[in-house]
Amino acid sequence: ETTKTVRHFLDISDFDTATLRQILNRGHDLKKTSGTAAHPRPFQGLTLATIFEKPSTRTRVSFEVGMRQLGGEVITLTGREIQLGHGETIADTARVLSRFVNVIMIRTDHETKVHEMAGAASIPVINGLTDTSHPCQIMADIMTFEEKRGPIEGRVVCWSGDANNVCQSWIHAAARFGFEMRVAAPKSLQPTADTVAWAAAEGARLVVTEDPRAAAEGADIVVTDTWVSMHHKDAPARMALLTPFQVNDGLMKLASPDAIFMHCLPAHREEEVTTSVIDGPQSVVWDEAENRLHAQKGILAWCLNA
Ligand code: CP
Ligand code: NVA
Repeated sequence: ETTKTVRHFLDISDFDTATLRQILNRGHDLKKTSGTAAHPRPFQGLTLATIFEKPSTRTRVSFEVGMRQLGGEVITLTGREIQLGHGETIADTARVLSRFVNVIMIRTDHETKVHEMAGAASIPVINGLTDTSHPCQIMADIMTFEEKRGPIEGRVVCWSGDANNVCQSWIHAAARFGFEMRVAAPKSLQPTADTVAWAAAEGARLVVTEDPRAAAEGADIVVTDTWVSMHHKDAPARMALLTPFQVNDGLMKLASPDAIFMHCLPAHREEEVTTSVIDGPQSVVWDEAENRLHAQKGILAWCLNA
């Protein structure tokens, strides 16, 4: 039996800069003909299965539309509807799906589950969000910044809020794309010691602080996310801790005058971000959401080597 290398997309930290650049370049290239008859259809005869153990709007729609635009088919499976939600193991699900389809995207809770799935699958597995990562989102975010402001290398990104799954993937990206990542969060919601150690070992410029104003000073991007992620159960406590980290006009004023505001969405206006900022002139959140489609086409093309 020959062992062939399966191209999984599990975390930004798994990749070298050149491969991430190759994926983004393909996404940019495919964006040029998106929605036109000239769009290439290299995935004819190929099927993507998506598995959602948590809700989704953007990830679900962008993967489905992207796969179809590239000529492929999609099957969408949600938690309790499939046997995975009733005790069948991740590994057995991966082995069976590998006999029917060509690529799997999974949104789940524990990061270990995407690794288990990749370990047992003979086809590529894509991480569509876990409790601790959201790599597809950050690929779209890098694409968005660079379209608006040019190369992200050497720039400054300010995260103010809960240092959650999305923030973790931003930290991974800081190491690979060479920007400074400043994370402002209350002590108990800061990046883990493991993440901080990883960043140091990888030579990432990571600054962790409890002071959002210091983090925002001269930043090129101000980014945040919900204070209560899908897996969080302690909403009132989080809201109280995170109130001082709201992205508002006062915080945006400290950033670079041409700073952009980003948010992966869904957003909660007047909680993590004010209406004035998310609906204001510096916000790029709709372009950012659209770029999920284009960046993920690049990811699918890399995984399928097509
Ligand atoms: N940003 C994002 O992943 O959104 P969904 O939860 O709607 O997929
Ligand atoms: N941090 C959020 C991101 C949603 C796309 C969550 O995990 O719920």
